[in-house]
Amino acid sequence: MTDRSFRRALGEFATGVAIVTARGSGNGLIGMTMSSFNSVSVDPPLVLFSVDRRANSLPAMLEADVFAVNVLARDQEALSNQFARAMSDKWSTVRAILAERKAPLIAGALVHFECEPYAHHDGGDHVIFVARVRDYSVGPEAAAPLIFFRGRYRDLREESEREPAWPLPIHY
Ligand SMILES: Cc1cc2nc3c(=O)[nH]c(=O)nc-3n(C[C@H](O)[C@H](O)[C@H](O)COP(=O)(O)O)c2cc1C
Repeated sequence: MTDRSFRRALGEFATGVAIVTARGSGNGLIGMTMSSFNSVSVDPPLVLFSVDRRANSLPAMLEADVFAVNVLARDQEALSNQFARAMSDKWSTVRAILAERKAPLIAGALVHFECEPYAHHDGGDHVIFVARVRDYSVGPEAAAPLIFFRGRYRDLREESEREPAWPLPIHY
């Protein structure tokens, strides 16, 4: 098992893409593109994401007392790339809702989950963050999601464009 082939195998699992934001100590804004977001629990309402131990944002993420998970829409590919670049000025040109002592909410996201830390776990070369959802807001339009699969952004075809699964077409 090489790292490369293992990464490739993991890439067979299609995901959405989110930008996880936080407020660091000193009020600095933190943001990272994240495909490791997932749901965990309904009661209590918990979600998770895992952060690379090499990420510059990790110390601030570990100290943060608020997070927001911004689930990206199909037309936010450029933002996804912008928030995946280490040490860059991720926040220039971003439209976001900023409120005191809250994590930034990125405009145009499909949904925002506003969270607080619940637990951190060892995840090997990543740290697993479990966060408790305190509030959420679903965007006004049912926009298409940004999908990440086999190392690339993809489109999710609409239900109506797909071959019907059942009944199967019968050819005599
Ligand atoms: C589609 C996509 C998904 C990503 N998912 C994750 C992830 O789940 N966890 C993670 O730590 N980094 C992930 N990254 C990489 C981070 O976004 C990137 O390393 C980080 O923003 C670097 O910022 P920093 O070093 O300034 O903190 C992903 C990048 C892309 C393009």
